[in-house]
Amino acid sequence: MEALALERKAEQNRELRERLAQLKKERNAIILAHYYQRDEIQEVADFRGDSFLLAQKAAQTDADVIVFCGVHFMGESAKILAPNKVVLVPDERAGCPMADMVNPIGLRELKAKHPNAKVVTYINSSADVKAETDICCTSANAVQVVNSVDADEVIWCPDKNLGHYVQQHTDKKMIIWEGYCNTHDMLTVKDVYEMRAKYPNAQFVVHPECRPEVVELADFVGSTTGILKYCRESSHQEFIVGTEDGTGYQLRVDSPDKTFHFASKFLVCPNMKVNNLKKVVKALETMQPQIHVPQDVADKARLSLERMLLVK
Ligand code: 13P
Ligand code: SF4
Repeated sequence: MEALALERKAEQNRELRERLAQLKKERNAIILAHYYQRDEIQEVADFRGDSFLLAQKAAQTDADVIVFCGVHFMGESAKILAPNKVVLVPDERAGCPMADMVNPIGLRELKAKHPNAKVVTYINSSADVKAETDICCTSANAVQVVNSVDADEVIWCPDKNLGHYVQQHTDKKMIIWEGYCNTHDMLTVKDVYEMRAKYPNAQFVVHPECRPEVVELADFVGSTTGILKYCRESSHQEFIVGTEDGTGYQLRVDSPDKTFHFASKFLVCPNMKVNNLKKVVKALETMQPQIHVPQDVADKARLSLERMLLVK
């Protein structure tokens, strides 16, 4: 019975992939997928990446339509960077709880208290918050971005864990917002000790959205792309991975002979998993749901994203 259900699912996915290829041609569309998406989406993506690489790709593509498989703020950033393209998301309900932890009113109040500080905002934020921001960053460039700003004081939002990590690598005084990623923040020191005891030869690699006391235990700390690169280039064969489990797809593509153990069964972002292949096909069929950002907000937010893309 199980085998039959699997065969039916495989057949369904074959049909969906064929339909997708046809629609992509008709619409001149590109599929961008974050590394945390389901395997069935990463398999059909024209480009897989972390938040930084996907924003860069959206800004550069010649396609008329971008199907953004990730969470809402990522589609929004793509639309801001490529305002003349149609940006589709497979499911508008795929949000990011951390992005919702900061709002423009609260941020404006904090800015009023620290008038000499520059605002550095993690890309995991709404367009309205980006519009109140001097420069955005992702986990791949957070330290470089903070060090690049022309001020001694930085208001950092919304991820306190990433903020704490950046504070260890900069002399700037950081005023840190209290947000966090529900998924990465779940990983505990106890989980890591248990995994280390179980896999004593494995290297522990971790995303800086995890808690500081967990990050402290790592052999390597880096963004999703940083983790992928480290594991690909390392001479080690076995890894305990402290980031979202969708990353397993690219880890296995890059290093089929290495072994990866996810550090906790809770490292699954339910928002990222709202999307599936069927919804990707439907989005291109119906050209819905589309991302729209009011022009005045987009124009302000674009500056903060474009400044980020220029930081080396
Ligand atoms: P990166 O894509 O920058 O690694 O961020 C991780 C994340 O949680 C995205 O939502
Ligand atoms: Fe947001 Fe965390 Fe999910 Fe990324 S993994 S989309 S930060 S909740």
